[in-house]
Amino acid sequence: MKKLAVLGARGHGKDVAEIAELNGWGVVFFDDAFPSVNSLAHWSVVGNTQDLLAGLQSFDGCFVAIGNNRIRLAKQQMFSEKGATFPVLIHPSAVVSRYAVIGEGTVIKANAVVNTFAKVGVACIVGTVSTIAHDCVLGDSVHVSPGANVAGAVIIGDCTWIGLGATVRQCSKIGANVVVGASAAVVKDVSDGLTVVGVPAKVLIM
Ligand SMILES: CC(C)(COP(=O)(O)OP(=O)(O)OC[C@H]1O[C@@H](n2cnc3c(N)ncnc32)[C@H](O)[C@@H]1OP(=O)(O)O)[C@@H](O)C(=O)NCCC(=O)NCCS
Repeated sequence: MKKLAVLGARGHGKDVAEIAELNGWGVVFFDDAFPSVNSLAHWSVVGNTQDLLAGLQSFDGCFVAIGNNRIRLAKQQMFSEKGATFPVLIHPSAVVSRYAVIGEGTVIKANAVVNTFAKVGVACIVGTVSTIAHDCVLGDSVHVSPGANVAGAVIIGDCTWIGLGATVRQCSKIGANVVVGASAAVVKDVSDGLTVVGVPAKVLIM
């Protein structure tokens, strides 16, 4: 059986591990809280980031299952520079167009849909029952949360987080490092680094 090293032994890691198993991988976890954390449900946690770097050659693939978009991308880039390879993990119930392009280290969770000619960057999370419509372009380490719907030809920058159940109007441009709050409706372009909430979505000023 192919062996996958998964970095990040928390809730998202459990989803990643199950989807990996459904795709024929055997999973071993690493986490920076090791050795305080040495198991996750029935999986073993056997080391931290440094241990994984030292033992990369023992694995057929590597996956960073950390929720924070910037940390996930930085870790994937670091492992990539050391020669690690990252599978695309797609839950069997997800529907991914044959014309979509999905970057390495991206996970597509249960019942998500990625439609024709969509491009999804590396290290992204396409959440449960979310939809990415035709011709969308998602940067690297974007997280589309469960139940969010991204309409056609939307462009989303690196490390942006689309919250639970949010909707994004077709052809919108959302910058990098944006947070779209849960249940927001994005109907205008959003600049880099902003947090937007509400229907229609407006900048959250705190
Ligand atoms: C937008 C968000 C990031 C803001 O979080 P935060 O910085 O901790 O902000 P707070 O919870 O302190 O809220 C600040 C204000 O914004 C409002 N607010 C927060 N989230 C909101 C949302 N999604 N829609 C509308 N208003 C929202 C709060 O009511 C509060 O208003 P007030 O100052 O009038 O009381 C967060 O609420 C959110 O929606 N996160 C997405 C969660 C998600 O999708 N999880 C999926 C995990 S897979």
